[in-house]
Amino acid sequence: MSFPWAKQYEPKVPLMRWIDEKLPLPRLVYNAVGAGYPVPRNLNYFWNFGVLAGAALAVQIITGIVLAMHYHSAAGGAFDSVNGTIMRDVNAGWFLRYAHANGASMFFIVVYTHIFRGLYYGSYKAPREMIWLLGVTIFLLMMATAFMGYVLPWGQMSFWGAQVITGFFSAIPGVGETIRIWLLGGYAPDDAALNRFFSLHYLLPFVIAAVIILHIWALHIPGSNNPTGVDVKGEQDTVPFHPYYTAKDGFGLGIFLLIFAGLVFFSPDYLGHPDNYIPANPLSTPAHIVPEWYFWPFYAILRAFTSDFILPAKLWGVLAMFGSILLLFFLPWLDQSPVRSNNFRPAARIAFWVLVADVLVLGWCGGSPADPIYVILSQVCAAYYFLHFLVILPIISRAERPRPLPTSITEAVLKGKGGTSPVDTALAH
Ligand code: HEM
Repeated sequence: MSFPWAKQYEPKVPLMRWIDEKLPLPRLVYNAVGAGYPVPRNLNYFWNFGVLAGAALAVQIITGIVLAMHYHSAAGGAFDSVNGTIMRDVNAGWFLRYAHANGASMFFIVVYTHIFRGLYYGSYKAPREMIWLLGVTIFLLMMATAFMGYVLPWGQMSFWGAQVITGFFSAIPGVGETIRIWLLGGYAPDDAALNRFFSLHYLLPFVIAAVIILHIWALHIPGSNNPTGVDVKGEQDTVPFHPYYTAKDGFGLGIFLLIFAGLVFFSPDYLGHPDNYIPANPLSTPAHIVPEWYFWPFYAILRAFTSDFILPAKLWGVLAMFGSILLLFFLPWLDQSPVRSNNFRPAARIAFWVLVADVLVLGWCGGSPADPIYVILSQVCAAYYFLHFLVILPIISRAERPRPLPTSITEAVLKGKGGTSPVDTALAH
């Protein structure tokens, strides 16, 4: 812990003193999320999203464990166990299933907001590179988990989604098809593939939980960034995590649960695809195979490659799709600006909002049929995505003249300098 003024844990009751002597777990909690963790006093609501992501993971693990008690992982029984047994026979099974399916969407909404918060406020920069690298690792694990989970109900989109995604591997020259058959345990998704996906889908959330522990550990070394991006200079710049941020996170959690409940109780199928209520049929390919909404921007990048050039178009698509995420690992070194927060970087701020628009258009294209107009739009936006990270941001980070920074967080708070959120900043200019 790098803050000398952090409060020290002093057990008040004999039982806690006894536990603390044998296993200092209460001390660990106190220093991690209690009064012993000083946090910048100017965090806005975008700093709620880390805790919300943790809450979303907890919902997924709890509902997932109970669902697994009733799920039948066999090509001949999976669809009926989900759409029959769980949805109709198991007590509150419909609730568990809808909470788990919509929970995945809530998880991605929260994590995308968390990532873009980090991009806007430069939270990926030194000294927080490790937090960012672990975050990108979590994101990759989340995508693998979500993909495998979507296969489990064994509907049409489950089957054809698995067919398309495992088909990526056959793009590898020479050995691709062999790898694909080895991964699936057959020539097409069937019992063997379903069982291994189920096994990994159950395992990976716990791996994610372990990486989150490292993520939070890495966070506690430098402490949180803040909307000004200026370093904490002293005790006057921080407040203890508890009660200030436990209360603020609690409020955020309430709003999160309200929106989540709204989806589960009033529109549980809104984010799903109707074709997944049709049992998997290897002999009937759906007119449009689309993944879940949170994969759409990446799916658009995959489909943006339409002609062979040295390598087959399909392989380019696969490389670009994985490259678009792996690129994020290099971000802390691509952006060389010493100023973190985009509140003080006028050019980087414009580039940030253009990137947001670009990703939204990619998402729209990825969810639409592969008509020429969407393919062309995907090509332009995919090219811009790479241009942003590899060319525009590095140039801006060297060329731009940032606005003057406040001398401290306290000055920014008391004199209203630097705004607290992107909205405040936009209004102030
Ligand atoms: C299950 C997923 C995740 C969980 C539970 C999680 C949890 C957290 C928590 C609790 C914090 C501190 C509170 C906050 O700043 O919001 C945090 C900070 C952070 N996270 Fe995550 N995170 C997750 C995924 C990610 C991903 C995917 C990335 C980036 C690709 C990321 C990057 C960061 C960064 C850079 C910070 C430091 C922010 C700052 O101090 O300004 N996280 N995370």
